[in-house]
Amino acid sequence: MIDERERVEYVRVPVRHAAPTFAQDVLTGLTGKQKSLRALYFYDDVGSALFDAITKLDAYYLTRAETEILRESSWEIVRALDSPPEFFELGSGSAEKTRLLIDDAIRAHGSLRYSPVDISASALHGSAKRLTASFPDLRIRAYEGDYFDVLASPQLQFDGRVLAMFMGSNIGNLDPQETSTLLMALGRALRPGDGLLLGADLKKDRAILERAYDDPAGVTAAFDKNLLVRINREFDGDFDLADFRHVAEYDERRGVVESYLEALRPVYVRLAALDTTIHFAREERIHTESSYKYDIEQLHRLGVECGFVPQREWFDRGHRFTVTLLVRA
Ligand code: TRP
Repeated sequence: MIDERERVEYVRVPVRHAAPTFAQDVLTGLTGKQKSLRALYFYDDVGSALFDAITKLDAYYLTRAETEILRESSWEIVRALDSPPEFFELGSGSAEKTRLLIDDAIRAHGSLRYSPVDISASALHGSAKRLTASFPDLRIRAYEGDYFDVLASPQLQFDGRVLAMFMGSNIGNLDPQETSTLLMALGRALRPGDGLLLGADLKKDRAILERAYDDPAGVTAAFDKNLLVRINREFDGDFDLADFRHVAEYDERRGVVESYLEALRPVYVRLAALDTTIHFAREERIHTESSYKYDIEQLHRLGVECGFVPQREWFDRGHRFTVTLLVRA
């Protein structure tokens, strides 16, 4: 049992580059030739609740498949490096699945330090509170900030062996260029022998992928359209949700599911607070998210290019998802 006051530490990492505001992003995103909105705006309170509902849908197999892998293999995963590691997780969110690894790491090694990184202070506080309540032998050092800012920050500190984690659909939502940049930045922050655990959704049949991103019950459509609800609320807008439909398309050549909101008819949308009117032609689309799919060879190649050596990989029984361990060379 570790002394209560020493158990949780918060580190707020300042932004290095002034990030655009939501208003700026909406203006640039909706007035360009290919309209787009940045996926980070999905996650207001309603959006986070809808995403949570998505992870429980029959069609959205990703969360269940990854959980199955962790349930089956967490004991092997936490013992796969040459010495007991501390955990460093990018995009930890609620950290629900990480519990499985934390539990086994404490069982195997007696205690653990867990350093989650998230842009959401409320997600960090919530998960730190729940985790310390469940695990008396856990220490937490939580970093609030952008991945790249945290990785380059002098505030980032590791004591010994590290197991970095980038799980869920996180890697899928970065494009290949961003993914390499992130893995290289991680490589610089880690030392030889440290691990990187990557979760990734595998390439598969189009019908299964498109159903995962456009479920029959319409939860994903509601999640996507919640972006318009949020814009209406924050910028006094008059988007009519009935004028748009959610579309998910798998581009097999690029290995990516693209999500869009598509105008069903020509519409004008007024955003009073931004003093702007936006025109949509019939079938014009707003791109809202890219979800890249991988195969094992591609993940390994990516790791090698960024200075890692593939060590092991695990799959769910249906071979839909992988958790792959790379070791920093
Ligand atoms: N970003 C997650 C993913 O790619 C969440 C998600 C699920 C999502 N369904 C979506 C994002 C539909 C945008 C549109 O798996």
